Amino acid sequence: MAEKPQLVNNSPEDIQTDDCMSTYTHIYSPDLLIDQVAFITGGGSGIGFRIAEVFMRHGCDTVIASRNLEKLTEAAKKLTGATGRRCLPTVMDVRLPETISSAVEKTLKEFGRIDILINNAAGNFLCPATSLSFNAFKTVMEIDTMGTFNTSKVMYDKWFKDHGGSIVNISATLGFRGQALQVHAGSAKAANDAMTRHLAVEWGPSGVRVNTVAPGPISGTEGYSRLGGTHAETAGAFRSIPLQRAGNKTEMAHSVLFLASRAASYVTGSLLVADGGAWLTSANDVERLLCILSSRSAKL
Ligand code: HXC
Ligand code: NAP
Repeated sequence: MAEKPQLVNNSPEDIQTDDCMSTYTHIYSPDLLIDQVAFITGGGSGIGFRIAEVFMRHGCDTVIASRNLEKLTEAAKKLTGATGRRCLPTVMDVRLPETISSAVEKTLKEFGRIDILINNAAGNFLCPATSLSFNAFKTVMEIDTMGTFNTSKVMYDKWFKDHGGSIVNISATLGFRGQALQVHAGSAKAANDAMTRHLAVEWGPSGVRVNTVAPGPISGTEGYSRLGGTHAETAGAFRSIPLQRAGNKTEMAHSVLFLASRAASYVTGSLLVADGGAWLTSANDVERLLCILSSRSAKL
């Protein structure tokens, strides 16, 4: 019997931890973001960290902004060490507009400009609607949806209104079909997808583009571990994904880089699904999700 031909693996380098990659192959021009400044919420870990690294490898300086200064400071050291670009760690909570204002003012003082905003900060956990407290639903809405609005509005008022800019929101496909145990995150991300279109329409005349990347399961991330990625992989659940695997963080960074950069100069209000086709075919496997949930402590 003829052997199955070996498929070309086009996925770029990545590593599972929140460290910079030891090698990186440019597929875009290395000076695509030269001397620009990107403000990345949640840039101290996971997908946000890799977005910061890839942007810096394209000539950009970055601000990584979230709640945990120790984590951010360590991340910034790694990012500057690997890329030679500047990275400013800044504490803020996307739920508190005054902390965002301070962080944006600090950025403008340090760098004198902001070209790109990545709304990547989010909170999530698996929980059936019946067990979800009112405060738990509200907390995720406040981080994911209010947080995206708060940060976008502060950035627009303080800089983008007069200088233009590019916003990329990090979403998810959960709400497209209605994933079980995810009513909080799915509702929050669906609201964000609408927000992308509203703000693209309203802010387009000021030279602000607003777009979204919706990742699928991305290995080496908090989201992957909280939502049972390893369990799904071991159980062979990724065979139902058209591309038959999880994505990696560098792949997400490349999708975000496209939309954030001048490569997408005529693209606004769009949503780029970067999930290997997962949402089209993946089973809504409630039994598997409940099994992951019961194998953990109630609070993650
Ligand atoms: C049920 C939970 C819960 C859990 C918290 N709560 N964890 N309920 N199951 N596992 C409830 C609490 O009991 C409380 O309600 C309310 O939520 C707020 O909890 P706090 O701990 O006070 O909130 P806070 O300190 O603000 O922390 C926010 C958080 C936390 C979201 C709960 O997990 C966090 O900081 N996460 C950030 C990192 C993260 O989540 N990364 C993964 C992103 S992945 P009560 O009623 O008791 O007061 C992602 C993937 C999307 O977004 C799509 C993937 C396909
Ligand atoms: P992650 O590393 O936990 O990233 C979330 C980041 O948000 C953290 O760095 C966290 O930092 C920050 N954050 C949380 N609450 C905040 C708050 N109130 N204010 C400011 N910052 C806050 O998880 P990830 O898996 O890489 O997720 C990144 C993004 O991708 C999220 O938008 C997520 O919804 C999306 N996504 C992920 C996957 C996946 O498979 N991983 C799939 C689909 C979508 P602090 O704790 O320091 O605040």
